[in-house]
Amino acid sequence: MHDLDETTVTQAVLDQMAGTADARLAEIMAAAVKHLHAFAREANLTPAEWLTGIAFMTEIGKTCTPSRQETILLSDVLGLSALVNALHDKTRLDNATDTSLLGPFYRDVSPERALGDCIVAKPDSPEIVFYGQVRNLEGHGIPHARVEVWQTDEHGFYDMQMYGDEKMDMRATLVSDAEGKFHFRTVRPLGYYIPMDGPVGRLIRAQGRHGCRPAHIHFLITAPGYRELVTSLYQGDDQYIDSDVVFGVSSALVIQARPDPNSPFPELEAIHYNFGMARAAESGEARIGADPSKLVKAAE
Ligand code: BEZ
Ligand code: FE
Repeated sequence: MHDLDETTVTQAVLDQMAGTADARLAEIMAAAVKHLHAFAREANLTPAEWLTGIAFMTEIGKTCTPSRQETILLSDVLGLSALVNALHDKTRLDNATDTSLLGPFYRDVSPERALGDCIVAKPDSPEIVFYGQVRNLEGHGIPHARVEVWQTDEHGFYDMQMYGDEKMDMRATLVSDAEGKFHFRTVRPLGYYIPMDGPVGRLIRAQGRHGCRPAHIHFLITAPGYRELVTSLYQGDDQYIDSDVVFGVSSALVIQARPDPNSPFPELEAIHYNFGMARAAESGEARIGADPSKLVKAAE
């Protein structure tokens, strides 16, 4: 037996885990232990602080419900979700539109709408039109791509925050035409606070952060033979465009509604954006994020 101290304990744990049969589990856990131990040493973590962290993580778990995923939210505000997205993007076969966070307000099923429909039941502000094309690497339109879109209303609320599971609004599934083109009418979304009434919100306030996301419209685009594209487009004039609390913005994803005589509804202000899709890889490609109700079911 050897006595362990604050440095030799790390190797002792690594040695004990060395028999892990699953090679990827072995790799991930070895890295996790090395970095966790290094973190505790660097911060000189005290027992009371360790316990505060344990209580925090316990509360994070207890805050999760079928419509709320506090653990993903924690990953989001720590920039971990954005980092995993960036790492995943590097594995693409082709250059394509940047990805962005799926977020907690995605629903696997949304109302199917025809091209040109308004996705907002009762607009409270002037409508705008969004139009664009789903394209492959060569710039050719991808016919019949499935375009899922969801956003807040002009007051900064998602349907789920107002109606729970009762009613869907400001979200739709569209199918691009034979040239890969699609368009729909909507309202300008407003930016919003991430859920601030839980442990993540407490942390954000303790760090003096504003807790806001700039206004954005989410897209999830799929087409056979192409890698699923999960992204969002961000309104350039939003005051939080450079300080998104979950680090989802990149300059290629910034848009602005403006008058546009070429749009399918020239009387409305328009956003024009074309999406580039990468070819699908041979191996299955998991989505980063999930409908929160699915995660709770999986944990039961
Ligand atoms: C959202 O875009 O809806 C979102 C993303 C991450 C955390 C909270 C909200
Ligand atoms: Fe969002």
